[in-house]
Amino acid sequence: MTNIIEVQDLKAYYITEAYGVRRTVKAVDGVSLHVKAGEVYGIAGESGCGKSSLLKVMLGAHQPPLTVVSGTVKYSFDGHEIAALSLDSNTLRDLRWKEVSYIPQGSMHVLNPVRRIQDTFHDFIAAHNNLSKSESVQMTRTYLQELGLPEKVLTAYPHQLSGGMRQRVTIALATILWPKLIFADEPTTALDVIVQRGVIQLLKDIQQREGSTLILITHDLGVHANLANRIAVLYAGKVVEEGDTRTILKNPSHPYTQYLIRSLPNMAERTERVSIPGRPPALDMPPSGCRFHPRCPLAMDRCKTEDPALIELTPGHRAACHLLTEGVPHAQI
Ligand SMILES: Nc1ncnc2c1ncn2[C@@H]1O[C@H](COP(=O)(O)OP(=O)(O)OP(=O)(O)O)[C@@H](O)[C@H]1O
Ligand code: SF4
Ligand SMILES: [Mg+2]
Repeated sequence: MTNIIEVQDLKAYYITEAYGVRRTVKAVDGVSLHVKAGEVYGIAGESGCGKSSLLKVMLGAHQPPLTVVSGTVKYSFDGHEIAALSLDSNTLRDLRWKEVSYIPQGSMHVLNPVRRIQDTFHDFIAAHNNLSKSESVQMTRTYLQELGLPEKVLTAYPHQLSGGMRQRVTIALATILWPKLIFADEPTTALDVIVQRGVIQLLKDIQQREGSTLILITHDLGVHANLANRIAVLYAGKVVEEGDTRTILKNPSHPYTQYLIRSLPNMAERTERVSIPGRPPALDMPPSGCRFHPRCPLAMDRCKTEDPALIELTPGHRAACHLLTEGVPHAQI
């Protein structure tokens, strides 16, 4: 399978200056990854580790103060390669929604409160295709039906819908033009568990319907377990572990991933549930060496000074921890 997106050594920092003091927040700091066409790729990690910042750059939607310092992002659609970081605004506009789509964090609030849902869909569809109002309403009706959403939402205003339904409508809106590559940022956060299930199923249906590629960002590994083929675990702006979902969940190699899994209520049945000690670091002054060292119970002297490289443990399974090169490949926290 070909890669639909490739990210090479990407560094993107928030660079601000106030009262002559320059501040650099290293939100994305040397990320390399690739996603194959048709796969669901999960990006996990605690709040503030750089998930949304990475996504914005991958989407070409970053704006100052978020600045790409180095690295590349490359799309490949039907064998046609596109350098995503050097696109002019017209090309970006052509790509957005038809090829590359985006369900932003907190997106259930993006629906226009004074427009009926069918009018919002019409505005969106008409901005990209030359369709009349009745054609766009018919297209929307058919799509909502395919996704199992009730027809009555068409004439509703956003405030008349539940939070879960608003989120599902927003996801439908972002995907109605059949994009090949879909980014979703925390699509289930702030929804209760039952509603979450509906949203997860909806994302599955959309992805499988056309074999689209889904890049799913959530701090919730339980959601990744349900949807993702592969998972990258981000910590303080870096990928610390990546592998297929089963490997990450059953055989995590990085102490941080082990903590993430052991902090999950239903995945820690066989072991005691633990919470991760301490807090994620501020990224304007990240810790030296391994960025996880102040919180890691297995930290050694070299962890304070040497940044561990991401090494391949088995084909497709990578992790960045000095223990793995010291001959203790699956040391447990
Ligand atoms: N506009 C900004 N200016 C400066 N720093 C920022 C800005 N936006 C985000 N940051 C910082 O960048 C880092 C990464 O933030 P980001 O929003 O990408 O994290 P996240 O993993 O998406 O978190 P969450 O799970 O809370 O959404 C954080 O330390 C955050 O404080
Ligand atoms: S490199 Fe050291 S501090 Fe970092 S996760 Fe591994 S053992 Fe812990
Ligand atoms: Mg975020």
